[in-house]
Formats: sequence, structure tokens, C-alpha cells
Amino acid sequence: MRLAPPGPRALGPGLGGEWQNRTMTNFRVRPALAETPAYIPGKPPAPVEGLQSYKLSSNEHHMTPLPAVLEAIADAVTSPHVYPDPSAHDLTAAIAALHEVPHDHVVVSAGASEGLSALIGITSEAGTSAVFPWPSFEMYPQVVSYVGAEKIAVPLASEGRMDLPAMLQAIREDTHLVLLCSPNNPTGAVVGQAEFDTFMEQVPEDVLVVLDEAYADFADGSEAAASIHAAEDGLDAPVDSGAALSRYPNLAVLRTFSKAHGLAGLRVGYTVAQPGIIHEMRKSIAPFSVTAPAQAGALASVAARAEIAVRAKEVGLIRDDLAARLREAGIPVPPSGGNFVWLPLGRRSQEFTDDCMAAGLAVRNLGSGVRVTVGPQEAMDRLVEVARAFIGKRA
Ligand SMILES: Cc1ncc(COP(=O)(O)O)c(C=O)c1O
Repeated sequence: MRLAPPGPRALGPGLGGEWQNRTMTNFRVRPALAETPAYIPGKPPAPVEGLQSYKLSSNEHHMTPLPAVLEAIADAVTSPHVYPDPSAHDLTAAIAALHEVPHDHVVVSAGASEGLSALIGITSEAGTSAVFPWPSFEMYPQVVSYVGAEKIAVPLASEGRMDLPAMLQAIREDTHLVLLCSPNNPTGAVVGQAEFDTFMEQVPEDVLVVLDEAYADFADGSEAAASIHAAEDGLDAPVDSGAALSRYPNLAVLRTFSKAHGLAGLRVGYTVAQPGIIHEMRKSIAPFSVTAPAQAGALASVAARAEIAVRAKEVGLIRDDLAARLREAGIPVPPSGGNFVWLPLGRRSQEFTDDCMAAGLAVRNLGSGVRVTVGPQEAMDRLVEVARAFIGKRA
């Protein structure tokens, strides 16, 4: 039912009283919202007497940022009365130099999330469709639904890998966008150069392909990267997105400072693509969305990228060790290139999640399996104990 517009009394001073209690159903919202799931963030751990609790449910970095980065952030907090640099000039220049592209190939955003929303927003609307792998990052179906486009979710292949031939087949006349995720959240699989090239060469040129590399820094030297070599007789390697950008004008690469750089709380990410794509994205990204502390922290973190890479390797070693121990315990964990591992537990996912919570570990139940973020060694050891007991219960 449509309500009469609010009268002058209702718009008077203060928005309290009756107006605070109105439900959304009183407003004319877009029908697409009925289809749109709200994002469900990772749960915090419940306190357990005598145990330190760990949050392993949001793919955060378990180490605090480097001292130089913290210092840069602190220095930038001193002027909160003024807006940040709207063009994020210095940070954009540093990112452009890092990826060896001109300045106009880069746009920063409040996390990769804002860049992703912009990329979906500039391409997709009712009457169009978007193809993405599933399971993958939960924002994909959320934002595609939000803009009113049709979701074409393509199931993953073995070992949690994206099924690129099936994704290609799934592209329709009305498809404007394809989302790829490498390493894939939540399975950790990494896309190989050969399969990627085969895919890109066949995707229609007017379909935008987004390669979401939120976790790319953890993939170097990973078991997941090595598994591509094995799959392709040692000839293949993980996709080189830098080279791919100059080869495929319909490609956009998404990165974030939330993961390997450990700056999730600052909300800063970026997109690298052809200037035409970046130009359109700027119409969607909120002005001043990347705060001055976020710009300063990210800039300092780019400068410290060698140390960041060392830390990412450390996380990778813990991850591969965790995956191996979980496999020993009887869980078929696929090789991961992210800062997380995937436990394909199917209908026992909730039971395992509950067992973890009882042991002070918050993990992420995604329905068909459980994703566990790499954390301190003590948390990993406890997780393996919980997994062993869990598998033991089955016998
Ligand atoms: C695959 C993937 N892409 C993008 C993001 C968004 O990251 P942020 O908005 O924190 O930069 C995430 C966050 O978990 C992710 O998992």
C-alpha cells in the first residue's frame, strides 16, 4: 500500500516519535531489494573460560601493521576537520608506479568493496546479467542483485577451482559483466595463465571482466600456485594480471589493502583498468570515501612492500602447514593461495563451526563448507585439535 507523503508536521524538527518506528514496507523501494541478501559479516568468538579466543572468520591479518605504517596513520589523524585529498593523488601515483601504469589507470576506493560495487554499478542493471563463480565472495550475488541484474552463479570445479570453460558457456547476450576471483574466497584456488588467456580470448570484447585479486599477495610460492604448474605439465603459472591488463582492454583488476597489508579497518582498496573504465567508476565512488589516515597508511604500506611480502610469505607457510595437518586429520582441504583454508564439510559445517566456537575459535560457515582464516600458531594448533576430535566423532 502507498502512503500519503509526510505532511509538514512530520517533517518538523526532530525525526523522533511515530516516524522512527515506520518499517521499510511503507516506502517505495526497488523490487530488486527483495532478492538482495544483506552481507553477513564473520562472527566474533565467544569468550571461553581459561582460553584466549581467536577470530578466524573475516580473513583479517593477524599481525598489526608495521610501525612505520602506524606512525603515518597517526600523523594523518591530526586534521579531521578537513576533507581528505579527493583525488588521493600521492597514493594513486604510488599504486600507478607499482603496477607500471599511467596515473589515469588507477582509482582508489573505500576498500575493494567500494570498487567492486562501482564496477557492478557501471555495467549492470535490470535486464542484464552477471556471471560469477560460486561459492565465492559473498558480495558478488549481493551487489548484482542490488542493482537488479540477473545472477548467473557458476559452480566451482574440483579442488575449489573456477570452472572457466563453464563460465564462458554461461555468458549470454544480456551479460555485461564477469567476476573472477583469484585466489578464490573461500576455496583459495588460483587461476592459471593459460586457462585465463583461453577464457579472455573468447569473452566478447564488450563484456567487462573483473579479476578480484584481494588475496594475490599470499599466493606467491603457495601450494595453490604450484598446483597450476602440476596441472599443466609444469608449463603454466598463476595469471600475471599486470601483463593481462595491457593485453585485454575489457579487464579490471581489483586489489585491497585489507588483507596482506593488514589495513582492513582503514577501508582502502583500488582498481587498475583502462582509463575509460576508471573514468566511469569515478561517477560511482563516493567523494572523499578514502580518509586521510587511510591514504597515508596505504602509502606507507606501499613503501614498505618488501616487508609486507615477507609477512605474507609467513602467513602462507602457516596456511600450507595448517592445510597439510587438516588433510592428515582426514579433511580434504584444497590447496589455497589466500590467508585462509577451505574445509568442504557439507552438511556437517555447522557442527564443526559450533565445535570451534566452543573452543574459542570463530570460523566462517558458508553452508557447503567452513572457511578458516590463518591466525597465530596457537590458534592453528587448537583448530587442528578440534578438527581431529570432530573427525573422530564420525567414526
Ligand atoms: C575476494 C574479496 N574481494 C574483495 C574484498 C573486499 O575487501 P575490502 O573491501 O576490505 O577491501 C574481500 C573481503 O573480504 C574479498 O574476500
